[in-house]
Amino acid sequence: MAICSRDQSCSQSPDRTPPKPPNASRRGFLKRVATTAAVAGSSMIGAPLIVPRTVLGANAPSNRINLAVIGLGTRGLPDMKVFLNNEDVQVVALCDVNRASAGYRDETTVMGLEPALKVATDHYAARQRSGSFQGVDATGDFREILERKDIDAVAVVVPDHWHAVMTIMAAEAGKDIFCQKPLTLTIQDGQEMIRAVRKNRRILQTGSQWRSNARVRHACELVRNGYIGQLQTIRTTISLNNKKDPGPGWQPMPVPAGFDYPMWLGPAPKVPYHIDRCIYKFRFNLDYSGGQITNIGAHALDIAQWGNGTERTGPVEVEGLAATWPPEGSLFTTALTSSFRLKYANGVELICESIPPFFSTRFEGTEGWVEFTSKGLKTSPESLATLTLKPNDIRLFAPNPSRTVAKPGDFYADHVRNFLDCVKSREEPFEPVEVGHRTASLCHLGNIAIKRMKRLTWDPEAEQFPGDPAANAMRSRPRRTDWKAG
Ligand SMILES: NC(=O)c1ccc[n+]([C@@H]2O[C@H](COP(=O)([O-])OP(=O)(O)OC[C@H]3O[C@@H](n4cnc5c(N)ncnc54)[C@H](O)[C@@H]3O)[C@@H](O)[C@H]2O)c1
Repeated sequence: MAICSRDQSCSQSPDRTPPKPPNASRRGFLKRVATTAAVAGSSMIGAPLIVPRTVLGANAPSNRINLAVIGLGTRGLPDMKVFLNNEDVQVVALCDVNRASAGYRDETTVMGLEPALKVATDHYAARQRSGSFQGVDATGDFREILERKDIDAVAVVVPDHWHAVMTIMAAEAGKDIFCQKPLTLTIQDGQEMIRAVRKNRRILQTGSQWRSNARVRHACELVRNGYIGQLQTIRTTISLNNKKDPGPGWQPMPVPAGFDYPMWLGPAPKVPYHIDRCIYKFRFNLDYSGGQITNIGAHALDIAQWGNGTERTGPVEVEGLAATWPPEGSLFTTALTSSFRLKYANGVELICESIPPFFSTRFEGTEGWVEFTSKGLKTSPESLATLTLKPNDIRLFAPNPSRTVAKPGDFYADHVRNFLDCVKSREEPFEPVEVGHRTASLCHLGNIAIKRMKRLTWDPEAEQFPGDPAANAMRSRPRRTDWKAG
């Protein structure tokens, strides 16, 4: 049986130099009680619960990962719960610029720093009865987290315009990073993140959890092993915008108490506050994200890259086919609907269109097809869906090979677990920075293509559009460096 590397084809990855061991400070974990109190007493907000730590067997401090979660909204709060459910993780600090409010994806649920702190402290208080309670610190300034020597890893679960800055600073500070998808806001972001992660020998896992789903893996294994014949076309769909903005003529709003708007904007342009620019809806403004092309494309196109075996490269041609845009003067600036085409050097064409359902990735070959949607797997011939691979077939990486039922919470937990295992082992995670960068780049190429609306040549090695300065300029955006806490 050929065992593939977790991120690539079956060849051994030549750049698999193990990053350096995790922070030695984990061994000094017990000293943190005093540190915690000192930091919390300064500029950290939210008092830590002063309860002595008790060290028990397999969860001895030297074996634990001290982790901080940055961003506690729609995704960050559930992400924090996944980390809390891992016995060898100690969530020691939380960070959000929003103390508490509604307005997240579930518009009525209150999220932010304080609700998350309550969940975490309740979790550990329940454990206290079994003798292992730890305090949790809270802050609105992620730099306080990066300064702490006792923190091994951070989860970056903030809007996309912060991913690069926080990842680069975290890598420089010696932290391992779980960074949400889409990994980047721009192609240049990804290049800089790779440099920082590799220079500092950090572990970075991209939060594209669908590849940890057993059915996605089966679909990609069918394609990689030729069960649908020669792969010709990959059709991906992304959903339509699920939120509305106030439309042209929107008026600035007063910044709510407990929301550090300057720190939310960070490296993005300085503009007046409106709630529909920030919480959850940032996805639909090009200053912070790339619309459903990056939001949902980061899943659908990630699967396409995996099945096609092109995870560390990209297409050679991109073409915008159609797009509709919000009216001039709207707060939302990303495409309402879009359609674009990419072509790879192996001749495979990838088409991405905004059509419900949530998302789908369909591989079409000369002898059949396989389609993954969030509802499940369909194949032609039907027998492929339950086919057992032959002993010599290519096997793709499975973070939890025993998991066959694809409940969302389960494979998400497996994806996170893979990150934690790699923090300890210093092996490459399932979706390292290079792979997350290439998936996000595909989405950015799509956005560039629908803006330019013509056929563009792309050099995936040099990561540039040969002889097209206007398109090349769209690979990056200015980042403000004068951001500070409000
Ligand atoms: N893997 C998935 O399936 C999945 C699902 C949802 C979201 N995401 C990703 O997670 C990220 C966050 O999305 P969301 O839906 O949770 O957004 P959200 O707006 O609901 O939450 C983001 C949180 O980050 C906070 N924040 C913003 N700037 C900050 C800063 N400088 N420091 C600390 N906190 C800051 C906000 O106040 C907010 O509470 C996005 O990149 C998104 O694509 C991934």
